[in-house]
Amino acid sequence: MHSASLWSFFYPFFQVLKNNRKVYMTSNLKLKQWVDEMAAICQPDSIEWCDGSKAEYDRLQKLVIDLKLATKLNETKLPGCIAFNSDPSDVARVENRTYIASKTKDAAGPTNNWIDPEGLKATMKGLYTGCMKGRTMYIIPFSMGPIGSPIAKIGIEITDSPYVVLNMIIMTRVGTKVLDVLGSDGEFIKCMHSVGKPLAAGETDNGKWPCAPLDKKYISHFPEERMIWSYGSGYGGNALLGKKCLALRIASAIAHDEGWLAEHMLILGITNPKGVKKYVAAAFPSACGKTNLAMLIPTVPGWKVETIGDDIAWMKFGEDGRLHAINPEAGFFGVAPGTSMSSNPSAMKTINRNTIYTNVAITEDKDVWWEGIGYDAPGKLIDWNDHEWIQDKGNKEQKPAANPNARFTAPASQCPVIAPEWEDPAGVPISAILFGGRRPGTVPLVHQSINWEHGVFMGSIVGSEITAAALDLKAGTVRRDPFAMLPFCGYHMGDYFQHWLNIGKKTDADKLPKVFFVNWFRKAPDGKWLWPGYGENSRVLKWIFERTEGTGAAEDSAIGYIPAQGAIDISGLDVPANDMEELLKVDKSEWLDEVVKIKEYYATFGDRLPAGLSNQLKALEERLSKA
Ligand code: OXD
Ligand code: MN
Repeated sequence: MHSASLWSFFYPFFQVLKNNRKVYMTSNLKLKQWVDEMAAICQPDSIEWCDGSKAEYDRLQKLVIDLKLATKLNETKLPGCIAFNSDPSDVARVENRTYIASKTKDAAGPTNNWIDPEGLKATMKGLYTGCMKGRTMYIIPFSMGPIGSPIAKIGIEITDSPYVVLNMIIMTRVGTKVLDVLGSDGEFIKCMHSVGKPLAAGETDNGKWPCAPLDKKYISHFPEERMIWSYGSGYGGNALLGKKCLALRIASAIAHDEGWLAEHMLILGITNPKGVKKYVAAAFPSACGKTNLAMLIPTVPGWKVETIGDDIAWMKFGEDGRLHAINPEAGFFGVAPGTSMSSNPSAMKTINRNTIYTNVAITEDKDVWWEGIGYDAPGKLIDWNDHEWIQDKGNKEQKPAANPNARFTAPASQCPVIAPEWEDPAGVPISAILFGGRRPGTVPLVHQSINWEHGVFMGSIVGSEITAAALDLKAGTVRRDPFAMLPFCGYHMGDYFQHWLNIGKKTDADKLPKVFFVNWFRKAPDGKWLWPGYGENSRVLKWIFERTEGTGAAEDSAIGYIPAQGAIDISGLDVPANDMEELLKVDKSEWLDEVVKIKEYYATFGDRLPAGLSNQLKALEERLSKA
């Protein structure tokens, strides 16, 4: 017997020993007390402390396969990969069940669901009571950011879901090393989670994804206590509490108090043909292509893009007075549909091993498939609902084989274009910040802010146009998603805007990143996309890079700096001059219309809208009137 199988042989005895002797694996009194308190409420059958080891990962993987909660995928094509199907009621973040339970409603602001923290705790304690019966309670010590880095934050997630443990091992840095850094009196963020499906004596999940009904799901944040309580969902951001809950909602509140930024941004490194490397952070609303941009393969000869992160950036001032960013995550939790060898070859090469798939379709030889993977379904599939599925290409009514929000969870270290410095605890100095969204009209391909305050204005008006009637909004209206943080800001959005303005006063203006607004999604009047996107976006990145160097020709416009004619390198690209003109057009009447809409939107913040931003709006209107 080699050591791994010896360990699995002794493991059950070790567990019994641990449970009887209350093995804590930590000397941290606060942590011991919290685990005891939650165990007493949740009443699990057993408790396991996660060490983040390969043996632990393999054992849990085997467990979920044996319980028929997951399928082992083709070991030759997809070594180390498994696939889960979730419950149809549990396929995405549930924004209307996500709460900011600050002490006052005002502290949460108009963009968050507020709930009274004491009432909520009482409700949730009721739900947590006995919720882990028949299950194991896992204690996951994790670090957001490199373990021991001064920027990193330690969280402890308590969960009854082995799916969560497996995903957290990929998405964060889990293990006993985290407990070593925590020591006997270190601080940690309490992240409490249960799927909300206790088991009766002898009952098993019987291969069915456990979760609670929608009206029992709660994704709750207590920003003053730096605490998260999640109940009833096992999926993604609702359950992997390091990501949206800790690294954005709670971290944004901490960052506000401590003078730094926790943002919904990718981070990339871009190197020009002379070998000069710069770093860019970019905020786009969910499902606007952050992962694709982070892993872009430039079409401009001699340029290179490398990934630091695809979803979250924590930025702090370094001793050099510049903003330095780290990616607090260790993996990618990306949307599978639409990912292909042409849209994102680097992602495809990242997810061909050691990856967890959720809600994709499975082929007969246990490979994965989804809509937009770049080839037809190879024969009969099992769809994400566990039904047989045969592609019927002419049939527009056919339900997709993969859920549109199907995901892959893969280690960032496997990405072929990961930057060698992606785990540098000092972070990377940011030269440019990009904002963007899906805007078929009005907004040009790229423009640059006049200064920091104007850049904050640009961030505050980010939004995506609603293309089909959805979310009770009329098609053609813009859903504002300021800084792409609408679902992720843990406090009053007006105070968040002011925080961004304040950041600009903390250093010399020339040390601040330059701010840009990009729009890959502009359409011609006949509805066709004007810009090819994907790797061709490197042409826009090149201009941005040049602007940060003080080169790159630009013209003044009422909305900021626009690339001068010919300044965007389109050599070898088949975009007619007319389309280029349309892409960079600033239409006065469209923008005056936009100003009216921004006024309406700004009014929702009342007197909490910073004067800096209302001044920016007024100045924009004046510039437009003169233009
Ligand atoms: C994500 C999101 O999953 O923004 O990253 O929804
Ligand atoms: Mn995101």
